[in-house]
Amino acid sequence: MDITVFGIGYVGLVQAAVLADVGHNVMCVDVDAEKVQRLNQGIIPIYEPGLEDLVKENHAAGLIVFTTDASAAVRHGQIIISAVGTPPGEDGSADLKYVISVAETIAKEMEEHKIIVSKSTVPVGTCDMVRKRVGDILKMRGREDLTFDVVSNPEFLKEGSAVADCMRPDRIIIGTQSEQSEQVMRELYAPFNRNHEKIIVMDIRSAEFTKYAANCMLATKISFINEMASLAEQLGVDIEEVRKGIGSDPRIGYHFIYPGAGYGGSCFPKDVRALIKTAEGVQFDAKMLKAVEERNNQQKFVLFDKAYKYFNGDLKGKRFALWGLAFKPNTDDMREAPARILMESLWREGASVSAYDPEAMQECQAIYGQRNDLMLCGTKEAALRDADALMIVTEWKNFKAPSFDTIRQSLKNPVIFDGRNLYNPKVVARHGLEYYSIGRMAA
Ligand code: UDX
Repeated sequence: MDITVFGIGYVGLVQAAVLADVGHNVMCVDVDAEKVQRLNQGIIPIYEPGLEDLVKENHAAGLIVFTTDASAAVRHGQIIISAVGTPPGEDGSADLKYVISVAETIAKEMEEHKIIVSKSTVPVGTCDMVRKRVGDILKMRGREDLTFDVVSNPEFLKEGSAVADCMRPDRIIIGTQSEQSEQVMRELYAPFNRNHEKIIVMDIRSAEFTKYAANCMLATKISFINEMASLAEQLGVDIEEVRKGIGSDPRIGYHFIYPGAGYGGSCFPKDVRALIKTAEGVQFDAKMLKAVEERNNQQKFVLFDKAYKYFNGDLKGKRFALWGLAFKPNTDDMREAPARILMESLWREGASVSAYDPEAMQECQAIYGQRNDLMLCGTKEAALRDADALMIVTEWKNFKAPSFDTIRQSLKNPVIFDGRNLYNPKVVARHGLEYYSIGRMAA
């Protein structure tokens, strides 16, 4: 099938590559000419396991092409997937300017029936808005003879495992009101729907809402366990034992109940806020979502608070070794990363940071530039040298079994603040290190 993908971001690029890989003819279009040029040279703008090979192979095979030519792109696909960003507006609601602009481009350029697929995370009612806008433009063009469908098909991929998630989705949500477009969408996803039925067809508004409800549910799980962790510390309880204890109940499950330094990334914080805004729009007070967000904002300060207390409020001139900058492992993404709040809080107190992250150092440099209180180090060991303490913010695999002796010998004070509960407190203590983690008593 001929597919067009508008927006070569995380979602767009990964989805396009995966669709090309099963044999669809995919044309990707973006307004960013530099990005398009680089992709045509085989330079992938993001780090995502498996993505580079997938893009290069299918590009070489001619199954995926990159262009800035929107009119050619509209001509190309019988299905046009819109995967442009929906950044938060000033008030936290999703800004739909790119979504609308894609709809307008399609409406201006189309010459035959198109299925417009909304893949971006968009508030309930957006597809209706897109339908209206396209219809209005076709009317202005005097082309009411042209027909089109709008389908909501939210994406659930996770950064760090985006390619694998896209190749083996848990479910494929298709929100549509037309049987014809349902059939075409089924054909599009048939290669991913082989072993058991993953396609769930529903009405458009429910499909749009499903994406928000899923992310808000997951964010709620995290904020819940983080709240339990803070309480556990006050009560002398070990949250890691509790986590296993409750996770064994299949109704709760082991996933997404890891306490930590707060959730970040491009989705959870933005989507929770956007749903709160959507609720406000219908005079609904989303009390629980507000609490989820508030807890998460607080959680991002937890490591800082522990260090502040440990050093009796005197952080001036201290240097902290930071392991992990990305909002989670296997990505270079630092959007809303807890490490940012932590570093900025430390800097405000006159402390400095020597940081190491396997992938996000360039990103960190791009965000903060050169500054005296930020040293980016080539290895995790280099970051430790003569630092006053170690802080762990991201659970990269390579942090899981460090040499505690090296840590103790490198640090001025033998203390670790661990925002991801990577170690057994008893083991750390045995190596002569003080250990502060999340939801467990200091050891
Ligand atoms: C998320 C959703 O999982 C995905 O389905 C959706 O399409 C986009 O948003 P992503 O943002 O890539 O994906 O990351 P995810 O792996 O879900 O982690 C989000 C954040 O939650 C990270 O900061 C992570 O560290 C944190 N987290 C996750 C916890 O603190 N505890 C957990 O138990 C799980």
